Parts: sequence; C-alpha cells; structure tokens
Amino acid sequence: PSQKTWGGRFRGAASDLMTKINASIGFDKRLWREDIEASKAHAAMLRDQGIVGAEDAEAILKGLDTIAGEFERDGVPERVELEDIHMTVEHRLTELIGPAAGRLHTARSRNDQVATDFRMWVRTSCDEAAANIRELQRALVDVADRHADTVMPGFTHLQVAQPVTLGHHLLAYYEMLRRDVSRFVDARRRMNDSPLGAAALAGTGFSLDRDTTAKALGFDRPTANSLDSVSDRDFALDYLSAAAQCSLHLSRLAEELIIWASPQFGFVRLSDSFSTGSSIMPQKRNPDAAELVRGHSGRIIGCLTSLMVTMKGLPLAYSKDMQDDKEPVFDAADLLTISIQALGGMIETCEFVPERMRAAAEQGFSTATDLADWLVREAGVPFREAHHVTGAAVKAAEDRGCGLNELPLNALKAIDARIDQRVFDVLSVDASVRSRTSYGGTAPNVFGSRSRKRRPT
Ligand code: ARG
Repeated sequence: PSQKTWGGRFRGAASDLMTKINASIGFDKRLWREDIEASKAHAAMLRDQGIVGAEDAEAILKGLDTIAGEFERDGVPERVELEDIHMTVEHRLTELIGPAAGRLHTARSRNDQVATDFRMWVRTSCDEAAANIRELQRALVDVADRHADTVMPGFTHLQVAQPVTLGHHLLAYYEMLRRDVSRFVDARRRMNDSPLGAAALAGTGFSLDRDTTAKALGFDRPTANSLDSVSDRDFALDYLSAAAQCSLHLSRLAEELIIWASPQFGFVRLSDSFSTGSSIMPQKRNPDAAELVRGHSGRIIGCLTSLMVTMKGLPLAYSKDMQDDKEPVFDAADLLTISIQALGGMIETCEFVPERMRAAAEQGFSTATDLADWLVREAGVPFREAHHVTGAAVKAAEDRGCGLNELPLNALKAIDARIDQRVFDVLSVDASVRSRTSYGGTAPNVFGSRSRKRRPT
C-alpha cells in the first residue's frame, strides 16, 4: 500500500511528478506558527469536549510545543513527499508521540485547517501593513513640517499650474496612505471569522465547540456556513486589493521622486544611501530604489489578478487550485513591506532643493489665476473676462521674456485699465500660496498650525 497519510485506498505509489506538482511545503512552511497554534486550540477543544482523552491531548499539546521549538531553531524541514505544512507537522508529531498523534485530526480536514492558518497569517499581515504605512506617514509628516513654507510648482498635465508648498504636496500622500490603512483595518475586521470546525466541507458529527477555538485563535466568531468556510478566499483578495491600491500610491510617489531627481528638474537630491551608480557612466546617480518601488507595484497588482483568476471558475467547495492562493499573497506581502520601507528611507534621507522648486514655480506664469482672481475681486470683472485679460498679460510677459510680476504697471494697464499697483501684492508665488486659505488649500498657516490643518470648528 501507498506510504501516504491518505494512502489507505491506493496500491500504486505516486509518480515523482505527481509528488512534485502536489507539494506546497516549499512555500506554505511560512504558515507553521499558525498551523501549530490552530492545532493546539483544536486539540484542547477536543479534550474539553471529551472527544480525545486527557492523556493523549496532553501528549499532543506538548508534542506541538516541541515541534514549535524545533522549527524556531532549525527551520521547517522540506520533504516534498509530506506535501504541505499540515502533513509535515503531523508527521513529526507522530515521530515524537506515536499513535496518539493520529487523534489530532479528529473532526478536522486540511481544508478547514489551511483556511484557518492562512486567515491568521493574512490577518497578521494586515496589522503589519498598517503599522508600516503609519511609519511612512510619520516620515512624510516630518518632512512636510520642515517644508511647510517651501514653495514649489503644483502641476496639472505635468505643466506648471499654480504654486503650492512642498509640505502640502507630501501631505497629499499622507491622505492616500490614511485610506490605505483604513482598507487594511477594514479587511482585517471582515476576515476575522474562524473556519475551523467546518471540516472537509459539510461540518462534522462530533460535538465540536467552534466558539471556543474561534476565541482561542483571536477570531470574533466562527464562520456560519461550512461550504463557504473552506472555499472562501475573499480575505486573501481583500488583503491583495488593499496591497495593490497601496502599492499604486507608493508607485506614484516613487514616480515623482524619479522625475524630481532628474537633473532637468533638480527638485531633490537622493542620498547616497538610496542611489546607485552606473557601471559605465561615471556621472550617473540613479534612483533605483524608487524605480523598484514603481516596478514592485506592477507585480503586486499581478498578485491580485492572479488570485482572482484562480478563484473565479471554482465550484464549491475546495479544489486544489486553491493551493495556489498562497504564493501571490506571500509575494505581495514581501514586496509591499520592502516598498514601504525603502520609500520611507528615501523620504527621510533625501534633500529637497527649495531654490530649484521656487525657480520652477516662478517660471510657468503660475500666478496667472491669482491675477484673474484679483480682477474678479477688486475690479468686479466676471471670471471668464478676467481669464481673457490675464491671457493677454501672460502673452505680454512671454514676449518680454519676464514673469507676470515683472511686467511694468503701464504694460498691465495697457491691457486693462482697471489694473492698479495693488495687483503686485498677489503676483508673487509666496502671495499666491498664502492666499489659498480655503479648507484643504495649500496656504501654510491657515488654522494656526504649520502644515497640519484642522477642520475649522
Ligand atoms: N496544501 C493544501 C492547500 O494549500 C492544503 C489543503 C489540502 N486539502 C486537500 N483536500 N487536498 O490548499
């Protein structure tokens, strides 16, 4: 007969290829802590329910602790013939305590076991992602606070639009990241039901106490439908979709750093610790870390797509396709962690160049809207007409090769007689930025605090 745990009904041995394609131990060994914790909760519950005798249960619990110590010390042994982490743990338990190990799997299937382990792993990853994002937010707030008054061009279509502050620009990312944290927190709350006890798919005839195992493993409650419990991977998709969206934000910030670090912009100088050189061009200072963050985002989005496509055609309940759920999640988690940390490192160590930013803000007639607004406010001109007048002023400045605020008053008066000396108060980039006091606007000092504005009460 076959040597497999499940080999009772088989006469022939598995082909090497069968063994190879079937094995998930190479990656699901990352679930070992969760697997042992969930097995301990299950064993204790079986004991308390009188399903497994106290003595055998104690042997199982002690054996599982021993295995945890071994794995912690030596790593998880990778034996493909044992298929996965669940079989690896059970096999070792049998070596340690003998036939009593065989009682652990009472009223349990690998189907509810893997659903439980994986949920616990993803749950921890939600917490870790939220904590890492908060670190990055802290780094952004620090830099934003230092640059609350640093004027830079704000862009639309990557064309100079209106002056903003660097602090305001960086805090835009703070907002995106705040939503990302809330997505991970929300996903965690939604996934926190325990599938343990759903067994293979239909539940079990043993008198389980699913509330107790749920509580012991930090879940809010047991899942309500056994079929859904073993076939649902929404929790992994929720995690991946939060990760994909977060990585998209990281990618946009990385993209800005790449553009800003180019000599043509020169808005920022990345520190030596986060730049690389070229093997052939000695002058190069490349923003590789930012480019990799941008690249990783593509891979994380791919992980989400991968699992969605895996799941979309599966009938209830468990199919082995679902073993492919783990690698995209593990990959995405690793990529997201390094991306957040590297971007944080770049932000903390880079040097912004306020002179370059100011010069760029002053170049593109970025205060044209301020001139139009002034005509509306001070001369009662309808905005559309003011827009037209301002267009003529921009043209005049362009012809003279100067900025709007460098036009002589008579040149402005020639365009529109209603313009007077006071207009120069609004044509500087500083005045422009200071004037944007609407809630959420770029003015540095709106509600008393420097860059962190509060909603007016
Ligand atoms: N290694 C499997 C997985 O990751 C565990 C569940 C196996 N269940 C089964 N019926 N073959 O999905």
